[in-house]
Amino acid sequence: MSKLSFNEQILQGIPNELPHIKPHDAAISHAPKRKDILSAAEKKLALRNALRYFHPKHHETLAPEFYEELNTYGRIYMHRLRPEYEMFARPIEEYPAKCQQAAAIMLMIQNNLDPAVAQHPHELITYGGNGAVFQNWAQYLLTMQYLSCITEEQTLHMYSGHPMGLFPSSKEAPRVVVTNGIMIPNYSKQDDWEKFNALGVTQYGQMTAGSYMYIGPQGIVHGTAITVLNAGRKISKAGEGLAGKLFVTSGLGGMSGAQPKAGNIAGCVTVAAEINPKAAHKRFDQGWVDEIINDIDVLVDRIKKAKSNKEVVSIAYVGNIVEVWEKLDEEKILVDLGSDQTSLHNPWAGGYYPMGLSLEESNTLMANDPEKFKTEVYRSLERQATAINKHTARGTYFFDYGNAFLLEASRAGADVMANDGINFKYPSYVQDIMGPMCFDFGFGPFRWVCTSGKDADLDFTDHVAKDVLEEILKHAPQEIQSQLNDNIQWIKQAKSNKLVVGSKARILYANAEGRMKIAQAFNQAVREEKIGPIVLGRDHHDVSGTDSPYRETSNIYDGSRFTADMAIHNVIGDSFRGATWVSIHNGGGVGWGEVINGGFGMLLDGSEDADRKLKNMLHFDVNNGIARRAWARNDIAVSAIKREMELTKDLLVTLPNPVSDSILDRL
Ligand SMILES: NC(=O)c1ccc[n+]([C@@H]2O[C@H](COP(=O)([O-])OP(=O)(O)OC[C@H]3O[C@@H](n4cnc5c(N)ncnc54)[C@H](O)[C@@H]3O)[C@@H](O)[C@H]2O)c1
Repeated sequence: MSKLSFNEQILQGIPNELPHIKPHDAAISHAPKRKDILSAAEKKLALRNALRYFHPKHHETLAPEFYEELNTYGRIYMHRLRPEYEMFARPIEEYPAKCQQAAAIMLMIQNNLDPAVAQHPHELITYGGNGAVFQNWAQYLLTMQYLSCITEEQTLHMYSGHPMGLFPSSKEAPRVVVTNGIMIPNYSKQDDWEKFNALGVTQYGQMTAGSYMYIGPQGIVHGTAITVLNAGRKISKAGEGLAGKLFVTSGLGGMSGAQPKAGNIAGCVTVAAEINPKAAHKRFDQGWVDEIINDIDVLVDRIKKAKSNKEVVSIAYVGNIVEVWEKLDEEKILVDLGSDQTSLHNPWAGGYYPMGLSLEESNTLMANDPEKFKTEVYRSLERQATAINKHTARGTYFFDYGNAFLLEASRAGADVMANDGINFKYPSYVQDIMGPMCFDFGFGPFRWVCTSGKDADLDFTDHVAKDVLEEILKHAPQEIQSQLNDNIQWIKQAKSNKLVVGSKARILYANAEGRMKIAQAFNQAVREEKIGPIVLGRDHHDVSGTDSPYRETSNIYDGSRFTADMAIHNVIGDSFRGATWVSIHNGGGVGWGEVINGGFGMLLDGSEDADRKLKNMLHFDVNNGIARRAWARNDIAVSAIKREMELTKDLLVTLPNPVSDSILDRL
């Protein structure tokens, strides 16, 4: 059989003749074996579901093969169907497509599956352990084929990785509509995901995995840097900044590994404890942490020196975080900022290592005696919280970083509850930092991808974005100037931070005005052929995209944080205002059933249509969330939306009336 070109392979979709079986590649990271949750009858259903992608002449061959995959991995990935071409984001003109929008989406899909970008690329997992782009390779092949023939008069509907098909629509409609993991609410528990994902009828799309918008580690470094900078702002009484201040945290894993790099960008002394030497050395070898220390006394001396010299330095301490909190308390060293990023959303299977046990001892204990291991975890969390409480009593500002530290510590019986017995003693990073300092103003993780694949285009867009933000800064109200300044600083350093992996992408935080003006300037540059087409997007972790009561919407205090209307309105609203694709997911960040999150992608092709669409859609994409935050009585959001109403003729938002406490107290 002659070897087909890349284009030919895309155009053929699921091949008529089965390709050769692909050997298991031990050199790359693979997803862990998933729970064996299906009954014998359900396994037959899973096979029937998988085989419906193939002509019956192949069923005899594929049925036992898929059955073995299901038993070995807990899922049917259809490894044999994995394409033989290299997986990476190609320049947009290299995709066989009838419209540029479809080519842009193909580029973004391939980026999410690029082995340099994706966590478990052969299982189609982009990040977060289970954040899937597709459930299996047949879905990938079919989707790419549909995208290669879709016209501007059609829309592709994606049901949790499955391409349901191309439906007639219009030029104004999104080219692709994505849903991931959307369940009847009662069927949204962890084991429901295991079961229905194993059956092949749904998937966990995380936030940017199943929406084709992941851009590698840059996003998390930027978000962490913004958080540390704003936390610093909270504790800088006289605006002295973070020089010489100490930030103590834990974890140098997948996302927590961004903390030292973010600490350096924010300009403080960062100490991140990491129990696993391999994780610490990986971050050191990548240049994400400056120094590694194995001895606690050496660490204490190094901290004292770094603080007094006001060094900007990040240090990995190979050991347990509890030891660090206790030792620094004993030495009476002031920790200015404190947090934790052990994986406490997953405490019993390696997310948290208890004090007093080595890494190996913990790994053995969690497998051999899970109950004893649980006791050890709780004992350790209690000790950790006690030490942190001593620090906060002396002035440390401690915040929960969305990793369930306070939740698990409270379950361990640690002293972390506020006096009301309902809330925690310490805020989450969204309650105190991200919510009131960013989201309520409309600042959130705006991003773009240069589809030419050229570094020169990325440099050009960096300059354009910087110029636009500097121009906005000249007339900006005082309360948003620091956010603008942080992002101007970030974009100036962005190239030298060398965080681009995969597609030529950039992130920054901007409000509606910033996002719209940057996008307009990009579209004009595309029109003038200074750069190739640009894909705009954002993380779902944003002002309007995500309803998540313990994270993105944790600073909503009118009771509505357990509703998900905002995210649903966002995706519907974006879809008819000009998005090229839209997505809405159950799960993402904090778990299946705990959050609804949505996002968009938009191609800027230099056209006047794109100009109109970007203004209309980006304006709604941000102000929907500000309006909701204002209705929840968040003061900052009330002022932000009032200001927006003055600027925008057709915007009319319902505002809350204040109620006097004394009236309610008399009842
Ligand atoms: N708020 C956010 O935006 C945000 C972003 C990223 C991650 N998170 C949360 O942060 C957590 C960490 O994410 P990750 O991707 O880095 O996970 P990860 O599992 O890759 O990394 C956690 C690291 O902590 C280390 N560790 C565990 N217990 C320890 C202890 N007692 N002392 C020292 N080190 C210890 C582990 O060895 C591991 O390397 C997760 O719960 C995640 O959901 C939140």
